[in-house]
Amino acid sequence: MKVYFDNAATTPVAPEVVEAMHSVLTENFGNPSSIHAHGRQTRSLIEMSRKKVADLLSTSPSEIFFTSGGTEADNTTLRSAVEGLGVKRIITSKIEHHAVLHTAQYLAKLHGIQLDFVKTDQQGHIVMDSLETLLRSSDDKTLVSLMHANNEIGNLSDLEAIGTLSHEYGALFHSDMVQTLGHYRHDLSSLPVDFAAGSAHKFHGPKGVGFLYINHQNQIPPLIHGGAQERNMRSGTENVPGIMGMTRALELAHEDMEGHRQHILGLKKLMIEELKAKIPGVSFNGASGDLDKSLYTVLNVCIAPSSANEMLLFNLDIKGISISGGSACSSGTNVGSHVLAELDRDPKSGAIRFSFSRYNTNEEVSFAVEKLTEITAVHA
Ligand SMILES: Cc1ncc(COP(=O)(O)O)c(C=O)c1O
Repeated sequence: MKVYFDNAATTPVAPEVVEAMHSVLTENFGNPSSIHAHGRQTRSLIEMSRKKVADLLSTSPSEIFFTSGGTEADNTTLRSAVEGLGVKRIITSKIEHHAVLHTAQYLAKLHGIQLDFVKTDQQGHIVMDSLETLLRSSDDKTLVSLMHANNEIGNLSDLEAIGTLSHEYGALFHSDMVQTLGHYRHDLSSLPVDFAAGSAHKFHGPKGVGFLYINHQNQIPPLIHGGAQERNMRSGTENVPGIMGMTRALELAHEDMEGHRQHILGLKKLMIEELKAKIPGVSFNGASGDLDKSLYTVLNVCIAPSSANEMLLFNLDIKGISISGGSACSSGTNVGSHVLAELDRDPKSGAIRFSFSRYNTNEEVSFAVEKLTEITAVHA
C-alpha cells in the first residue's frame, strides 16, 4: 500500500481539474493580450475565472490578481507595501512560512525597515497583548503579516481580531491564507484584511498558480514589470490552464466543503485515537491535537525521544508512507523546523506531520499508525 499524507505540502490534482486544464491546453492557445478572436476567447476565460474566484470568496473581481502561487503573492505584498506605500515596519511572527519570513528579513536588510516579531504562546498562538504592545510602540507606517493557519502545526489565527486591532492602530494587515483558502469559507469583503495570498496546489489545483487579494482601498505597485498584464499588477503572459484549473479546484472545494471537512476531520480523529492507543507517550505539537483550534487537515505528532526518531521519515517512506517532518515547502531534506524550534518541546523528540485530504481513507490511517507502531517498537 502507498499512502500520501503530505497534503499540506501539496495535494493531488482533482480529475475534474485535469479535465478543465486539458480543454484549455488543447483548444484555447490564443495569447490573452492579442486582440483577435483567439486572444479574446482566452481573455474571456481568464475574466470568467476571476469572477468565479471572487464570487466564491465574496469579493470583487477587481480585487483578485492571479500570480504564480503563494510565494509570489506574499513577496508582492511585502515588497510593494515597503516600496510603494511607505511602510517602515513589518510586524510578523517567527513561525510564519519562509515566503513571508525571508522576504521580511530581506526587506529589513535592503531598505532598513524595522522588523518586529509578535510573541507566540507555547502552542503557537499569537499573543494578542504582544501585538498590541508592538502596534502601540511606534508611529511608523506598519504592515502586520500573520498567517491564517500554520502549515506545520495547523494553528488557526483569529483574522478578525488581528485585522481589527491592526487597523485600530492604523496598520495594514496581510495574511498568508495559503493553508485555509479552499478549506474554509471566507467572506473577504467583510474580513479586516488588506492583502491575502492563496495557492491552487493546496486545494487540489495545479502547482505554479495562485492569487493575491488586494482590498480595493489599497493600491500597490507591481513586483514584476513588463507587459502590464493583470491590470499592470503582474506582468507576464497569463498561465491560462493554471488559472482555469485553480478556478475549477476552488469551485469543487466549495461545492461540498462541509462534506470534505467532516470526512477529513474523521480521519484526524481516528489517527489521534489510534496513536494514543498504540504509541506510548505520544503527544501533538502546537494546537494540532485540538480539533477546535487547528486546521482539520494537519496533525503534527510528537514522538517520545528514542533512537527511532532520527530515521523516522526515512523508515516510514520505505514502508510506503509519504509524510513530512517539518515544512516540505522549503526543502527536500528535513533540515529542522523553524516553527517547532519556537515551541517548548524536547528537541530529542520526533516530529512528524500527517496532513490529510478528501482522497484519504480510514484504512490508510490505520495502515500508517500500524507502520509507525512497528518502527517505534523496534527501537523502544
Ligand atoms: C503557509 C504557506 N505559505 C506559502 C506557501 C508557498 O506557496 P506556493 O508553493 O504556492 O508558492 C506555502 C507552501 O508551499 C505555505 O504552506
